[in-house]
Amino acid sequence: MASVFEIFTVCPPGLEDLLAREITELGLSGKKEKGGFALQGGLKELYLLNLWSRLANRVLLKVGRFRATSFQELVEKASRYPWEIYFSQASGIRIRVTCRKSKLYHSEAVAERIARAISRRLGREIPLTKDEEAPLLVVRLFRDEIFLKVDSSGGDLFRRGYKVAKGPAPLRENLAAALVMFSGWDEKAPFFDPFCGTGTILIEAIWIAMNRAPGLKRSFAFEKWKNFSPSLWEELLNQAQKCLREPRARFYGNDRDPKAVQATFQNALAAEVTPYLNLEIKEVAHVLPPDKAPGFVVTNPPFGGRLGLAKKPLQELAARFKGPLREWQLTLIFPKKRLPARFPFPLNMVAAFEHGGKKVFVFKRKDGS
Ligand SMILES: C[S@@+](CC[C@H](N)C(=O)[O-])C[C@H]1O[C@@H](n2cnc3c(N)ncnc32)[C@H](O)[C@@H]1O
Repeated sequence: MASVFEIFTVCPPGLEDLLAREITELGLSGKKEKGGFALQGGLKELYLLNLWSRLANRVLLKVGRFRATSFQELVEKASRYPWEIYFSQASGIRIRVTCRKSKLYHSEAVAERIARAISRRLGREIPLTKDEEAPLLVVRLFRDEIFLKVDSSGGDLFRRGYKVAKGPAPLRENLAAALVMFSGWDEKAPFFDPFCGTGTILIEAIWIAMNRAPGLKRSFAFEKWKNFSPSLWEELLNQAQKCLREPRARFYGNDRDPKAVQATFQNALAAEVTPYLNLEIKEVAHVLPPDKAPGFVVTNPPFGGRLGLAKKPLQELAARFKGPLREWQLTLIFPKKRLPARFPFPLNMVAAFEHGGKKVFVFKRKDGS
Protein backbone atom coordinates (compact mmCIF):
# COMPACT_ATOMS: atom_id res chain seq x y z
CA MET A 1 0.00 0.00 0.00
CA ALA A 2 1.47 3.33 -1.08
CA SER A 3 1.97 5.87 1.66
CA VAL A 4 1.25 8.75 -0.68
CA PHE A 5 -2.29 8.98 -1.96
CA GLU A 6 -4.10 11.09 -4.45
CA ILE A 7 -6.68 12.89 -2.39
CA PHE A 8 -9.63 14.84 -3.74
CA THR A 9 -11.62 17.12 -1.46
CA VAL A 10 -15.11 17.69 -2.83
CA CYS A 11 -16.93 20.98 -2.22
CA PRO A 12 -20.17 22.50 -3.50
CA PRO A 13 -19.63 24.08 -6.94
CA GLY A 14 -18.92 27.77 -6.50
CA LEU A 15 -16.80 27.32 -3.37
CA GLU A 16 -13.60 26.08 -5.05
CA ASP A 17 -11.63 29.30 -4.45
CA LEU A 18 -12.58 29.45 -0.80
CA LEU A 19 -11.76 25.75 -0.37
CA ALA A 20 -8.36 26.25 -1.98
CA ARG A 21 -7.68 29.08 0.47
CA GLU A 22 -8.83 26.98 3.42
CA ILE A 23 -6.62 24.04 2.43
CA THR A 24 -3.62 26.31 1.86
CA GLU A 25 -4.15 27.75 5.34
CA LEU A 26 -3.95 24.19 6.69
CA GLY A 27 -0.43 24.16 5.29
CA LEU A 28 -1.25 21.81 2.41
CA SER A 29 -0.65 22.41 -1.26
CA GLY A 30 -2.25 21.05 -4.39
CA LYS A 31 -4.46 22.13 -7.23
CA LYS A 32 -7.88 23.71 -7.40
CA GLU A 33 -10.21 21.77 -9.72
CA LYS A 34 -13.85 21.96 -10.72
CA GLY A 35 -15.86 20.83 -7.70
CA GLY A 36 -12.92 20.57 -5.32
CA PHE A 37 -9.22 20.42 -4.67
CA ALA A 38 -6.69 17.71 -5.58
CA LEU A 39 -3.52 17.00 -3.65
CA GLN A 40 -1.08 14.26 -2.84
CA GLY A 41 -0.62 13.27 0.76
CA GLY A 42 -0.48 10.57 3.36
CA LEU A 43 -2.85 9.55 6.13
CA LYS A 44 -2.00 12.71 8.05
CA GLU A 45 -3.21 14.97 5.24
CA LEU A 46 -6.30 12.81 4.76
CA TYR A 47 -7.17 13.08 8.47
CA LEU A 48 -6.40 16.80 8.61
CA LEU A 49 -8.74 17.58 5.72
CA ASN A 50 -11.56 15.60 7.28
CA LEU A 51 -11.02 17.15 10.67
CA TRP A 52 -10.57 20.79 9.64
CA SER A 53 -12.38 21.56 6.40
CA ARG A 54 -15.45 23.70 7.04
CA LEU A 55 -16.32 23.82 3.34
CA ALA A 56 -15.86 20.28 2.05
CA ASN A 57 -18.66 17.81 1.39
CA ARG A 58 -16.31 14.82 1.59
CA VAL A 59 -12.72 13.73 1.12
CA LEU A 60 -12.06 11.01 -1.47
CA LEU A 61 -9.00 8.84 -1.88
CA LYS A 62 -8.10 7.53 -5.30
CA VAL A 63 -7.78 3.76 -5.23
CA GLY A 64 -7.29 2.98 -8.87
CA ARG A 65 -7.62 3.74 -12.53
CA PHE A 66 -7.81 1.34 -15.45
CA ARG A 67 -9.38 0.85 -18.88
CA ALA A 68 -12.31 -1.46 -19.54
CA THR A 69 -14.66 -1.84 -22.46
CA SER A 70 -16.54 -4.94 -21.33
CA PHE A 71 -18.13 -6.04 -18.08
CA GLN A 72 -15.84 -9.05 -17.93
CA GLU A 73 -12.79 -6.81 -18.16
CA LEU A 74 -14.31 -4.48 -15.57
CA VAL A 75 -14.84 -7.27 -13.01
CA GLU A 76 -11.48 -8.83 -13.76
CA LYS A 77 -9.52 -5.60 -13.29
CA ALA A 78 -11.58 -4.17 -10.42
CA SER A 79 -11.11 -7.33 -8.35
CA ARG A 80 -7.33 -6.76 -8.22
CA TYR A 81 -7.51 -3.81 -5.82
CA PRO A 82 -6.94 -4.27 -2.09
CA TRP A 83 -10.57 -3.65 -1.10
CA GLU A 84 -10.02 -5.41 2.22
CA ILE A 85 -8.26 -2.24 3.45
CA TYR A 86 -11.46 -0.23 3.17
CA PHE A 87 -14.36 -2.63 3.30
CA SER A 88 -13.35 -5.51 5.58
CA GLN A 89 -15.90 -4.38 8.22
CA ALA A 90 -18.67 -3.53 5.75
CA SER A 91 -21.86 -5.52 5.39
CA GLY A 92 -22.95 -3.51 2.33
CA ILE A 93 -21.56 -0.83 0.08
CA ARG A 94 -22.83 2.25 -1.74
CA ILE A 95 -21.41 2.76 -5.22
CA ARG A 96 -22.05 6.05 -7.04
CA VAL A 97 -21.31 5.81 -10.76
CA THR A 98 -21.17 8.38 -13.55
CA CYS A 99 -20.49 7.29 -17.15
CA ARG A 100 -19.53 9.57 -20.02
CA LYS A 101 -18.38 8.79 -23.54
CA SER A 102 -17.70 5.13 -22.64
CA LYS A 103 -18.73 1.76 -24.03
CA LEU A 104 -19.97 0.85 -20.57
CA TYR A 105 -22.67 3.45 -20.06
CA HIS A 106 -25.22 1.78 -17.81
CA SER A 107 -24.32 3.08 -14.37
CA GLU A 108 -26.40 0.57 -12.39
CA ALA A 109 -24.85 -2.35 -14.26
CA VAL A 110 -21.38 -0.91 -13.65
CA ALA A 111 -22.11 -0.56 -9.91
CA GLU A 112 -23.39 -4.13 -9.76
CA ARG A 113 -20.22 -5.48 -11.49
CA ILE A 114 -17.92 -3.52 -9.22
CA ALA A 115 -19.74 -4.86 -6.16
CA ARG A 116 -19.18 -8.31 -7.65
CA ALA A 117 -15.46 -7.58 -8.10
CA ILE A 118 -15.16 -6.38 -4.49
CA SER A 119 -17.01 -9.48 -3.24
CA ARG A 120 -14.64 -11.66 -5.24
CA ARG A 121 -11.61 -9.97 -3.70
CA LEU A 122 -13.05 -10.16 -0.15
CA GLY A 123 -14.17 -13.76 -0.59
CA ARG A 124 -17.67 -12.97 0.68
CA GLU A 125 -20.82 -11.36 -0.66
CA ILE A 126 -20.92 -7.58 -0.20
CA PRO A 127 -24.27 -6.31 -1.49
CA LEU A 128 -25.09 -2.88 -2.83
CA THR A 129 -27.12 -0.80 -0.42
CA LYS A 130 -28.62 2.67 -0.14
CA ASP A 131 -27.92 2.79 3.59
CA GLU A 132 -26.29 6.19 4.29
CA GLU A 133 -24.15 4.58 6.98
CA ALA A 134 -22.54 2.16 4.52
CA PRO A 135 -19.13 2.96 2.98
CA LEU A 136 -19.16 4.80 -0.32
CA LEU A 137 -17.19 4.18 -3.48
CA VAL A 138 -17.27 6.85 -6.20
CA VAL A 139 -16.74 5.53 -9.72
CA ARG A 140 -16.30 7.65 -12.83
CA LEU A 141 -16.08 6.33 -16.37
CA PHE A 142 -14.76 8.67 -19.00
CA ARG A 143 -13.67 7.55 -22.46
CA ASP A 144 -13.49 3.91 -21.23
CA GLU A 145 -11.16 4.91 -18.40
CA ILE A 146 -12.39 3.93 -14.94
CA PHE A 147 -11.52 5.98 -11.86
CA LEU A 148 -12.18 4.51 -8.43
CA LYS A 149 -12.30 6.71 -5.35
CA VAL A 150 -13.19 5.63 -1.86
CA ASP A 151 -14.90 8.05 0.52
CA SER A 152 -12.83 8.59 3.65
CA SER A 153 -15.40 10.81 5.39
CA GLY A 154 -18.36 8.50 5.86
CA GLY A 155 -21.38 10.75 5.64
CA ASP A 156 -21.34 14.35 4.44
CA LEU A 157 -18.81 16.49 6.25
CA PHE A 158 -21.30 19.32 6.58
CA ARG A 159 -23.22 17.15 9.01
CA ARG A 160 -21.27 18.31 12.00
CA GLY A 161 -23.62 16.65 14.46
CA TYR A 162 -25.16 19.74 16.12
CA LYS A 163 -28.36 19.99 14.05
CA VAL A 164 -30.59 18.38 16.64
CA ALA A 165 -33.46 20.78 15.86
CA LYS A 166 -34.47 21.12 12.25
CA GLY A 167 -36.29 24.01 10.58
CA PRO A 168 -38.19 24.40 7.31
CA ALA A 169 -35.31 25.96 5.30
CA PRO A 170 -31.99 25.32 7.03
CA LEU A 171 -28.75 26.23 5.35
CA ARG A 172 -26.13 23.50 5.09
CA GLU A 173 -23.35 23.97 7.57
CA ASN A 174 -20.63 24.29 4.92
CA LEU A 175 -22.65 26.88 2.98
CA ALA A 176 -23.18 28.84 6.20
CA ALA A 177 -19.43 28.71 6.89
CA ALA A 178 -18.79 29.92 3.33
CA LEU A 179 -21.13 32.87 3.85
CA VAL A 180 -19.24 33.84 7.01
CA MET A 181 -15.96 33.64 5.09
CA PHE A 182 -17.31 35.68 2.16
CA SER A 183 -18.41 38.41 4.60
CA GLY A 184 -14.81 39.29 5.47
CA TRP A 185 -15.74 39.37 9.18
CA ASP A 186 -12.61 39.83 11.28
CA GLU A 187 -13.70 37.48 14.12
CA LYS A 188 -13.67 40.42 16.53
CA ALA A 189 -16.58 42.67 15.53
CA PRO A 190 -20.11 41.87 16.74
CA PHE A 191 -21.88 39.31 14.57
CA PHE A 192 -25.65 39.39 13.96
CA ASP A 193 -28.09 37.17 12.06
CA PRO A 194 -31.57 38.80 12.10
CA PHE A 195 -33.25 35.81 10.33
CA CYS A 196 -31.43 33.10 12.27
CA GLY A 197 -33.81 30.12 11.71
CA THR A 198 -32.04 27.10 13.20
CA GLY A 199 -28.88 29.10 13.90
CA THR A 200 -26.51 27.58 11.35
CA ILE A 201 -24.74 30.80 10.37
CA LEU A 202 -24.27 31.86 13.99
CA ILE A 203 -22.94 28.48 15.09
CA GLU A 204 -20.50 28.30 12.19
CA ALA A 205 -19.29 31.85 12.96
CA ILE A 206 -18.74 30.96 16.63
CA TRP A 207 -16.83 27.79 15.70
CA ILE A 208 -14.63 29.86 13.38
CA ALA A 209 -14.00 32.37 16.17
CA MET A 210 -13.21 29.51 18.58
CA ASN A 211 -10.91 27.92 16.03
CA ARG A 212 -12.86 24.76 16.64
CA ALA A 213 -12.18 21.97 14.16
CA PRO A 214 -15.59 21.09 12.68
CA GLY A 215 -14.84 17.37 12.84
CA LEU A 216 -13.71 17.33 16.45
CA LYS A 217 -16.64 15.27 17.69
CA ARG A 218 -17.79 13.14 14.79
CA SER A 219 -16.74 9.80 13.40
CA PHE A 220 -15.24 9.09 9.97
CA ALA A 221 -15.14 6.17 7.54
CA PHE A 222 -11.32 6.02 7.71
CA GLU A 223 -11.55 4.94 11.37
CA LYS A 224 -12.81 1.57 10.07
CA TRP A 225 -10.04 1.10 7.52
CA LYS A 226 -7.32 -1.50 8.08
CA ASN A 227 -4.63 1.16 7.73
CA PHE A 228 -6.22 3.40 10.39
CA SER A 229 -3.61 4.88 12.67
CA PRO A 230 -5.23 5.52 16.07
CA SER A 231 -2.07 7.18 17.39
CA LEU A 232 -1.86 9.67 14.52
CA TRP A 233 -5.57 10.42 14.73
CA GLU A 234 -5.36 10.93 18.49
CA GLU A 235 -2.42 13.27 18.05
CA LEU A 236 -4.36 15.39 15.54
CA LEU A 237 -7.40 15.44 17.81
CA ASN A 238 -5.25 16.53 20.75
CA GLN A 239 -3.69 19.29 18.68
CA ALA A 240 -7.15 20.44 17.56
CA GLN A 241 -8.28 20.45 21.19
CA LYS A 242 -5.34 22.70 22.09
CA CYS A 243 -6.25 25.11 19.26
CA LEU A 244 -9.57 25.96 20.94
CA ARG A 245 -9.84 29.53 22.21
CA GLU A 246 -12.46 31.83 23.65
CA PRO A 247 -14.15 33.82 20.87
CA ARG A 248 -13.36 37.52 20.95
CA ALA A 249 -16.60 38.61 19.29
CA ARG A 250 -20.17 38.80 20.60
CA PHE A 251 -22.91 36.94 18.70
CA TYR A 252 -26.56 37.88 18.25
CA GLY A 253 -29.44 35.99 16.68
CA ASN A 254 -33.00 37.04 15.99
CA ASP A 255 -36.05 35.49 14.40
CA ARG A 256 -39.71 36.41 14.57
CA ASP A 257 -40.65 32.77 15.10
CA PRO A 258 -40.23 31.58 18.71
CA LYS A 259 -39.87 27.98 17.44
CA ALA A 260 -36.90 29.02 15.28
CA VAL A 261 -35.23 30.75 18.23
CA GLN A 262 -35.82 27.64 20.33
CA ALA A 263 -34.25 25.52 17.54
CA THR A 264 -31.23 27.83 17.43
CA PHE A 265 -30.84 27.45 21.18
CA GLN A 266 -31.04 23.65 21.03
CA ASN A 267 -28.53 23.48 18.19
CA ALA A 268 -26.25 25.92 20.00
CA LEU A 269 -26.42 23.67 23.07
CA ALA A 270 -25.39 20.67 20.96
CA ALA A 271 -22.59 22.74 19.41
CA GLU A 272 -21.47 23.87 22.90
CA VAL A 273 -21.70 27.58 22.07
CA THR A 274 -24.62 28.91 24.17
CA PRO A 275 -22.38 31.03 26.45
CA TYR A 276 -21.49 33.22 23.49
CA LEU A 277 -24.93 33.62 21.97
CA ASN A 278 -27.67 36.22 22.62
CA LEU A 279 -31.08 35.52 21.11
CA GLU A 280 -34.18 37.64 20.54
CA ILE A 281 -37.65 37.13 19.09
CA LYS A 282 -38.61 40.12 16.96
CA GLU A 283 -39.98 41.16 13.59
CA VAL A 284 -37.04 42.34 11.53
CA ALA A 285 -38.85 45.68 11.14
CA HIS A 286 -38.20 46.29 14.85
CA VAL A 287 -34.64 45.05 15.31
CA LEU A 288 -32.17 47.48 16.82
CA PRO A 289 -28.38 47.26 16.73
CA PRO A 290 -27.73 44.48 19.25
CA ASP A 291 -24.34 45.91 20.20
CA LYS A 292 -22.85 49.36 20.79
CA ALA A 293 -20.06 48.73 18.28
CA PRO A 294 -21.13 48.35 14.66
CA GLY A 295 -20.48 44.87 13.35
CA PHE A 296 -21.44 42.37 10.68
CA VAL A 297 -24.90 41.24 9.65
CA VAL A 298 -24.60 37.90 7.86
CA THR A 299 -27.90 36.33 6.97
CA ASN A 300 -30.08 34.03 4.92
CA PRO A 301 -33.41 35.89 4.62
CA PRO A 302 -36.59 33.99 3.74
CA PHE A 303 -36.78 33.35 0.00
CA GLY A 304 -40.51 32.62 -0.08
CA GLY A 305 -42.25 30.29 -2.50
CA ARG A 306 -42.73 33.14 -4.93
CA LEU A 307 -40.58 36.22 -5.01
CA GLY A 308 -43.49 38.36 -3.83
CA LEU A 309 -43.49 36.55 -0.49
CA ALA A 310 -39.79 37.20 -0.01
CA LYS A 311 -39.92 40.92 -0.74
CA LYS A 312 -41.28 42.28 2.50
CA PRO A 313 -38.75 40.98 5.05
CA LEU A 314 -35.91 42.07 2.79
CA GLN A 315 -37.41 45.54 2.35
CA GLU A 316 -37.81 45.76 6.11
CA LEU A 317 -34.18 44.76 6.55
CA ALA A 318 -33.15 47.42 4.01
CA ALA A 319 -35.11 50.00 5.99
CA ARG A 320 -33.16 49.11 9.15
CA PHE A 321 -29.93 49.80 7.24
CA LYS A 322 -31.26 53.28 6.39
CA GLY A 323 -31.74 53.82 10.12
CA PRO A 324 -30.29 52.11 13.18
CA LEU A 325 -28.09 49.54 11.38
CA ARG A 326 -26.59 52.24 9.10
CA GLU A 327 -23.01 51.51 10.09
CA TRP A 328 -23.17 47.73 9.98
CA GLN A 329 -21.65 45.59 7.27
CA LEU A 330 -23.99 43.25 5.40
CA THR A 331 -23.66 39.91 3.61
CA LEU A 332 -26.68 37.91 2.51
CA ILE A 333 -27.77 35.23 0.07
CA PHE A 334 -30.70 35.47 -2.30
CA PRO A 335 -31.93 33.28 -5.21
CA LYS A 336 -32.10 36.19 -7.70
CA LYS A 337 -29.41 38.32 -9.28
CA ARG A 338 -31.41 41.42 -8.41
CA LEU A 339 -32.53 42.07 -4.89
CA PRO A 340 -36.17 43.12 -4.54
CA ALA A 341 -35.23 45.82 -2.01
CA ARG A 342 -33.26 49.06 -2.07
CA PHE A 343 -30.41 49.28 0.39
CA PRO A 344 -28.82 52.67 1.07
CA PHE A 345 -25.45 51.43 -0.21
CA PRO A 346 -24.26 49.38 -3.19
CA LEU A 347 -24.12 45.61 -2.81
CA ASN A 348 -21.66 43.56 -4.83
CA MET A 349 -22.49 40.05 -5.93
CA VAL A 350 -19.38 38.19 -4.75
CA ALA A 351 -20.22 34.53 -5.36
CA ALA A 352 -22.87 32.04 -6.38
CA PHE A 353 -23.50 28.50 -5.25
CA GLU A 354 -26.31 25.95 -5.08
CA HIS A 355 -28.55 25.66 -2.06
CA GLY A 356 -31.37 23.12 -2.00
CA GLY A 357 -31.14 22.68 -5.78
CA LYS A 358 -31.47 26.45 -6.32
CA LYS A 359 -28.75 28.80 -7.43
CA VAL A 360 -28.18 31.45 -4.80
CA PHE A 361 -26.08 34.59 -5.00
CA VAL A 362 -23.98 36.11 -2.27
CA PHE A 363 -24.39 39.88 -1.90
CA LYS A 364 -22.02 41.98 0.14
CA ARG A 365 -22.04 45.65 1.09
CA LYS A 366 -19.41 47.35 -1.04
CA ASP A 367 -16.26 48.10 0.92
CA GLY A 368 -16.07 51.68 2.07
CA SER A 369 -19.71 52.46 1.13
C1 LIG B 1 -34.42 30.92 5.35
S1 LIG B 1 -34.80 30.92 7.02
C2 LIG B 1 -33.23 31.02 7.79
C3 LIG B 1 -32.60 29.66 7.86
C4 LIG B 1 -31.33 29.64 8.65
N1 LIG B 1 -30.22 30.20 7.91
C5 LIG B 1 -31.01 28.19 9.07
O1 LIG B 1 -29.93 27.67 8.75
O2 LIG B 1 -31.87 27.56 9.68
C6 LIG B 1 -35.47 32.49 7.28
C7 LIG B 1 -35.95 32.79 8.68
O3 LIG B 1 -36.48 34.12 8.70
C8 LIG B 1 -37.54 34.18 9.62
N2 LIG B 1 -38.38 35.35 9.26
C9 LIG B 1 -39.24 35.46 8.20
N3 LIG B 1 -39.78 36.69 8.18
C10 LIG B 1 -39.27 37.38 9.23
C11 LIG B 1 -39.45 38.70 9.72
N4 LIG B 1 -40.28 39.54 9.14
N5 LIG B 1 -38.76 39.06 10.82
C12 LIG B 1 -37.91 38.20 11.43
N6 LIG B 1 -37.72 36.93 11.01
C13 LIG B 1 -38.37 36.52 9.91
C14 LIG B 1 -38.25 32.85 9.48
O4 LIG B 1 -38.96 32.55 10.69
C15 LIG B 1 -37.08 31.90 9.19
O5 LIG B 1 -36.65 31.26 10.37
